[in-house]
This record gives sequence, structure tokens and C-alpha cells, in this order.
Amino acid sequence: MTAPSQEQIADYIARSGHAAWEVPGLTAATPRRAIKTVGVIGAGTMGGGISMNFTTAGINVRIVETTQEALDRGLKVVRSNYQRSADRGRFPQDEVEARMARFDGRLAIADLADCDLVIEAVFENMDLKRQIFTELNRVMKPGAILATNTSALDIDEIAGMTDRPQDVIGLHFFSPANVMKLLEIVRAEQTADDVVATCMDLAKTINKIAVLVGVCPGFVGNRILFARQIQANKLVYQGVLPWEVDAALNAFGFKMGPFQMSDLAGLDIGWSKGAKTDNPIRDALCELNRRGQKTQAGFYDYAASRTPIPSAVTEGIIRDITGAEPVSMPQDQIIETCIYPMINEAVKILEENKAQRPSDIDVVWLNGYGWPADKGGPMFFADTVGAPAILAKMEELGAADPAFEPATTLRKLAADGGKFTDIDTGGLKTAKGA
Ligand SMILES: NC(=O)c1ccc[n+]([C@@H]2O[C@H](COP(=O)([O-])OP(=O)(O)OC[C@H]3O[C@@H](n4cnc5c(N)ncnc54)[C@H](O)[C@@H]3O)[C@@H](O)[C@H]2O)c1
Repeated sequence: MTAPSQEQIADYIARSGHAAWEVPGLTAATPRRAIKTVGVIGAGTMGGGISMNFTTAGINVRIVETTQEALDRGLKVVRSNYQRSADRGRFPQDEVEARMARFDGRLAIADLADCDLVIEAVFENMDLKRQIFTELNRVMKPGAILATNTSALDIDEIAGMTDRPQDVIGLHFFSPANVMKLLEIVRAEQTADDVVATCMDLAKTINKIAVLVGVCPGFVGNRILFARQIQANKLVYQGVLPWEVDAALNAFGFKMGPFQMSDLAGLDIGWSKGAKTDNPIRDALCELNRRGQKTQAGFYDYAASRTPIPSAVTEGIIRDITGAEPVSMPQDQIIETCIYPMINEAVKILEENKAQRPSDIDVVWLNGYGWPADKGGPMFFADTVGAPAILAKMEELGAADPAFEPATTLRKLAADGGKFTDIDTGGLKTAKGA
């Protein structure tokens, strides 16, 4: 196959971006719900950033926290973000005040009753979300859209806590939510058409790139990310060091590899002192207070800057835990081991109708995860590699771990020809058959 030119790749990316806005069955005639006031629950990392999208777009936000201190802290972070932009000359000081004036901080969910849309952004804990959606169900006006920003919880289960599942949807923002362009709009089994249409429109209003996805663990973006992370961890257990894995993915074009990303996100997400998780290397690093960039040490050392420096401490921990001898693996092999499973997982997502079309997967990874634009997205890239080579690698990885068995459609493409970018899902599948 002749390699596509950069013009062809740029054209594909532009067409994919347009296509992502198309939702079969929704038209200009589909009714929309009016969104004048947005409620946000939680003023933490995500709640604050999510709110900023609306206040920046001129939409009022009523934001709820558990205590006055938490509310003040959250709004202080928002103000300092706006102030930093004003100090850099992005907008005048008046604009900082105008945007802050659109916030109305409260301490009770009942105060959100007349909001048109509520976005829940509290801790990732199903019991807490149950409590919140039960209350929203009780207090919110009829017709209000009830959204959750959960990263991985089952939105059908959340919708099931209400007697208005047609009004429940996932709005999965990425961190920092005021900066990242991607918004996964998660259509649950019973989400109504006008709720989807309203949220797609709203995404445009707040200047996001929206992709409609279905409910599955991690949705589209994180589900594919998990596949890469698992393989990156397996490589470490085989004796490849984290910086060797990252260097290979950096060479592929990612600004950050899996371990650089983990250090940025914080290694202590989902970890508490003394915890023994299924990732003992991470546990050991956290016990040493190597929690990532925020503690100037994680997989890497950080000295005074954010430049990651390979760490002898981390290497020692890895050698102790894995017992693996150092191996020198060619970068091509590391890249194939990390990237082909992402493609395989994407194909499974399409088979399960959790994405509308292959190019939507590319839009997610280009805009939310730093996929190198010169490679057009995972599905586009897969076509340049060809199914047989990807299948051969997945046969090998799948033999070691059934979670990585080749997707049926991957086998089919390898046997019959055909392109990854042409896989037809027939649209998202929901209980309504939409
Ligand atoms: N951090 C990320 O990168 C990221 C990305 C996408 C989605 N998410 C999801 O967003 C949600 C929030 O994550 P976060 O990182 O902002 O967490 P966070 O810990 O920074 O903030 C959560 C906030 O919720 C508040 N809160 C807890 N219970 C509450 C209640 N009953 N009423 C009002 N406020 C309450 C807490 O006081 C806290 O300020 C989670 O579901 C998470 O999975 C996080």
C-alpha cells in the first residue's frame, strides 16, 4: 500500500471531525431543550473546569459543594485560572469579573431544582452517585437533563436510580476540562433523542468537539487507553523499563508515553496508604510518596522541572517486584505491542456498537489523547499497517491473555481484505434500537 500523503491525512481528519457531529435519526427538526442555567455538583478538579466552559460561553452556573470551604476553594481555583488568562492579555480584567459573576455557589442540591441541565462531578463512587441521582430525581423540575461526568461507572445503572432514565446522559469531559477539546457524550440505553440533540448542540456552544458513544467500561477513549496501559505494564514485567516504553511511543509521535502520562495524572488515583492493588509497582512507588509529577517523583524523577528523568529508585523497585532480567527490545516491537491492542479494542468497540463509526474513534484519540495527527488516528493508521500484521501480533498477545484475543472483525479483515475505516456499525445500539 502506498503511504498516504499529509494532505490526504489532513483531509481525512477534517472529514472525520465533520462526521462526528452527525447522529443518524437526529435532524434539525429534532426538538431541543432550552438550556439557560446549568447546575454543577462538585467544585473539584472536574466540576470547576466543567463550569468554566459554561461561564466562558455566557451561561450561568449554579454550583453545589458539601461545605463552604470546598466551595470557596473550588471557585478560587476558577478565578485564578481566569486571572492567569487575563494577565496574559487573553481578555480584559472586566471579563474575569463578568465570568465569575455568572457563578452562584450553593450548599444544597435542592437549590438546583430549576436548572435546565445538571452535571454531576463528585467522587467516582457508585454509592455517592446513587445518593445524588436519587435526590436529583426527587427535586429536579420535569424535563431537566441529568448528566454525569463519570469516567467509568455504568450510566445505565445511574439512570436506573431515577424514574426518568430518558433524561439521563453522560457528559464525559477530559482534564483539564476548561482546556481539553474532547467531550464524549454517552448515550445510555434510554436517553431520549432530544436530550442527545441538546447536548450535541451545547457542545458546540461551549466550543467542544463532541463524539457520541455508548455505555461500556471506559467508554471509547479510556477503554482503548486501558488496553495500551495493560500491555505497557506487561512489557515492564518482561524487563523493559518504563522510559524505554515511553521512548518508543514518543518516537511513534505521542508527546507522552503511558508512564509519563501516569506521572502527570498522579499515581495515587484509586490508591490509599497501605493498599495492595493489582499494580504492586504503583503501590510501592506511592508508599515512597512517589505519586507522580505533583510530588516531583513517580516512575520518573523530576528535579526542579517537569522534565522526566529515569529513576534508579523506580528501576530497583521494578527489579525487586518483577524479578525480570533487563531486556533490550527494539522500538518497533514495543510500538506494535502497545498500539495494535488499541486497534483490536477499537474494533471490539465497533462490533459492540459502542461507537457510531470508525472515524469517531480517531476523533476521540486525536483530540483527547494526543494521537499524532500525522498518523490520522488509530483506525486510519490500522489501514496503513494492514489487518494481517495486526492479527499476527494479536494472536501472540491473545495466547498469553484472553482479554487480547483478536476481534472477530479483525480476523475477517485479515482474511477477506477491507478497511478498518470502512467497518460499518449501523450506528449506536441502544435498548430503543436507535
Ligand atoms: N480528574 C479527571 O481527570 C477526570 C476526568 C474525567 C472524569 N472524571 C470524573 O469526574 C468526577 C469528579 O472527579 P474529580 O477529579 O473532579 O474529583 P475531585 O475529588 O477533584 O472533586 C470531587 C468534588 O466533589 C465534591 N463532592 C463530594 N460529594 C459531594 C456532594 N454530595 N455534593 C456536592 N459535592 C460533593 C467534593 O467535595 C470534591 O470537591 C469523577 O466521577 C471522575 O471519575 C475525572
